[in-house]
Amino acid sequence: MIRQLNEIKDETLQKINKAENISQLEDIRVSVLGKKGNLTNILRSMNTLSAEERPVIGAAANTVKESIEMSIADKKEEILNSAMQAKLDKEYIDITLPGKKVEIGSLHPISKTAIELVEIFASIGFSVAEGPEIDFTKYNFDYLNTPVNHPARALTDTFYINEDVLLRTQTSPVQIRTMLSNKPPIKVISPGKVYRCDEIDATHSPLFNQMEGIIVDKDITMSDLKGTLEFFAKQLFGPQTKTKFRHHQFYFTEPGAEMDATCPKCKGLGCRVCGNTGWIEILGCGMLHPNIMEICGISHLEYSGYAFGMGIDRITMIKYGLEDLRLVYENDIRFIQQFIGR
Ligand code: DAH
Repeated sequence: MIRQLNEIKDETLQKINKAENISQLEDIRVSVLGKKGNLTNILRSMNTLSAEERPVIGAAANTVKESIEMSIADKKEEILNSAMQAKLDKEYIDITLPGKKVEIGSLHPISKTAIELVEIFASIGFSVAEGPEIDFTKYNFDYLNTPVNHPARALTDTFYINEDVLLRTQTSPVQIRTMLSNKPPIKVISPGKVYRCDEIDATHSPLFNQMEGIIVDKDITMSDLKGTLEFFAKQLFGPQTKTKFRHHQFYFTEPGAEMDATCPKCKGLGCRVCGNTGWIEILGCGMLHPNIMEICGISHLEYSGYAFGMGIDRITMIKYGLEDLRLVYENDIRFIQQFIGR
């Protein structure tokens, strides 16, 4: 019987040694120490032994039982430890690896120009007004004195949502909205997006940015307009900049003009940027047409005013010497990065 006990012990210890997981270990335990386990059977058959044999065999059987229990416990701990180690190995984070590089961004060149334009006009007392990009046809055209047969009104030129609502084609409707909801003195600028049915090419985009300006007060004259816009051009392109005003008809101004500035690239000598003329067109402007003041409920006998409008994208191209507007809208990071700190 002692031999049988030793066999059970050796065999079980070997099995325990080979066990790979907790459930195999449990099976081994049940097969030896469970209710029908072989060691349990031996212990149960002890009552058939003689009084001298019983304590000897009993002690031996208990020793075997203890050593099996102990090695099951040891093996269990070993399996649990190695499972934990495997988990730790799998979830290991190498804190010595360098982190992901944080890319420092830059303002888009159009935003930079818009901020610069706003700052120049804010420095002489203009505040910023905003208007909706989806606006009424009446504010974009009718109240601005635009004739019914004007080509800009055509479906081929303007994105209509319906007959009465459109994507604004200019920031000029903000003039109307401002005059309708404010009494003079009025002195605002309004930068924002505008939309036209244009094919994309080097100088056109169906979405672009403009900035409008309007002043309404007593005794505002053409010389106020010229002085303000000349100041603006010098701030933008440098003190040596000269300006000239050419007559141009806008239906909402009387008289109307376009302002040219000496080319900032060649300083007026003539180059590729200015088509060898030395001059570059910067904006449209004029004295407020009496009709639109009256439409907005402001007496043109009591008040006068001027307005101007410019393309922010166009000024960006001039300022940074860009030859293709598409670069500005493609948002290629290599292009945008060139404007960091500029
Ligand atoms: N809205 C005009 C355009 O898109 C620009 C303009 C011209 C605005 C003269 C004005 C202005 O306020 O007085 O071409």
